[in-house]
Amino acid sequence: MAEPTENTANAYPPIWPCDDDTALQCIQVVQETHDVKTFVFNALQARTFVYRPGQFITLDVPAGQGGSVVQRSYTLSSSPSRPQRVSITVKRVAGGPVSNWLHDYLQPGMQIGVTGPAGDFSCMADSATSLPAGMQTCAGQRYLLISGGSGITPVMSMLRTMVDMAVDADIVFVHAARTPADLIFHKELTLLAHQHPRLRLLLVCESRGAHTEWSGYVGRLSRSLLEQQVPDLLQRQVFTCGPAGFMQAVRASLLDAGLPEKQYQQESFSFETLAQAVNPVQTTTQNTVSTSEGSAVSGGFTISLSKLGDAFACAPDQSILGAAVAAGLRLPASCSTGLCGTCKTKKVSGEVSMQHKGGIRQREIDQGWILPCCSVPLSDVVLER
Ligand SMILES: Cc1cc2nc3c(=O)[nH]c(=O)nc-3n(C[C@H](O)[C@H](O)[C@H](O)COP(=O)(O)OP(=O)(O)OC[C@H]3O[C@@H](n4cnc5c(N)ncnc54)[C@H](O)[C@@H]3O)c2cc1C
Ligand code: FES
Repeated sequence: MAEPTENTANAYPPIWPCDDDTALQCIQVVQETHDVKTFVFNALQARTFVYRPGQFITLDVPAGQGGSVVQRSYTLSSSPSRPQRVSITVKRVAGGPVSNWLHDYLQPGMQIGVTGPAGDFSCMADSATSLPAGMQTCAGQRYLLISGGSGITPVMSMLRTMVDMAVDADIVFVHAARTPADLIFHKELTLLAHQHPRLRLLLVCESRGAHTEWSGYVGRLSRSLLEQQVPDLLQRQVFTCGPAGFMQAVRASLLDAGLPEKQYQQESFSFETLAQAVNPVQTTTQNTVSTSEGSAVSGGFTISLSKLGDAFACAPDQSILGAAVAAGLRLPASCSTGLCGTCKTKKVSGEVSMQHKGGIRQREIDQGWILPCCSVPLSDVVLER
């Protein structure tokens, strides 16, 4: 095959993410179900979006009190095989500030701050540098993609990518919803299953709701249904995403059935469990120091919060966020592992060592921003908080 000419190579716009772009522009809103919308975005300048199917981005949304910005993460439901735009698909959560703001206010033409992409939940190996080569590793594999409710987004991105790239994989796509009216991407899934003989679709609804004509499965996804419908499930790579109880049940069923643990991966839409594990909330306030004069406390450093006027001690091997929590202070945080960017804070002075996982851009680091959840102090530090 002929090598691409220089002109052909130059035809592709520069890659996103890049340090110059911190916002995306909404170009389309699609009502998927009564409480789910897809938001489609362009980069502000022409860009080629590069990410792994299953990864998420974190949005800055002015949905807090008085229009303050709050961060939430959303999986890219789009496929990197269509690199001119990206989409997220959001379920309206009762009483939730961000999902309701997106549903009620985000319109085509509006811009929204974003970091990412990040995350390791993907059928594409993280060592893969390019999409065609990365998806080639999926060829010949058997997949079982299982989702409940809005947890469909990462596995939909994987499915769309494998189908678009004509990957020679055998896929069973299982989606569970409350009623037929809650099935997200129902028409697209049905069409794809008609077009692709190696894709099998299994839709399961807890009840028929108003759709009395529904002839698909009614009830909860169970081990017996999976074993009956997917007799070779032990040979499959399984990716699951959905509510916590749903994933717990699916995981237990599959492992009980004999699925090797290394063939099972799941994604949670809540960072809470992870955050608890990394930064267990302690009630002690023994880490609090009463001065902000910057002197190191026994074996550690002092972290001062310039706006709040608080200060606390932090050991050299302790994350600044962990020390703040131990001191009884509440700082914004979500993933606690440097993925989502929620804890991003301007450093006024001092030195830290930061091991992030994509939640901050190099440009922001150069401007003095840090992620306290994955930063340990190398000196006394003053943060703009
Ligand atoms: C890595 C990651 C990827 C995510 N991807 C998506 C996605 O593709 N689509 C999507 O809709 N959401 C996704 N979420 C959830 C999203 O970040 C928000 O938590 C959600 O939109 C609710 O935000 P909120 O501010 O409206 O409500 P919050 O105040 O944050 O949440 C209110 C309550 O609802 C629960 N909750 C959060 N999300 C859901 C949900 N989807 N269904 C039912 N209950 C929920 C929360 O645990 C909390 O108890 C993802 C979260 C993470 C961590
Ligand atoms: S809490 Fe997610 S990056 Fe710090």
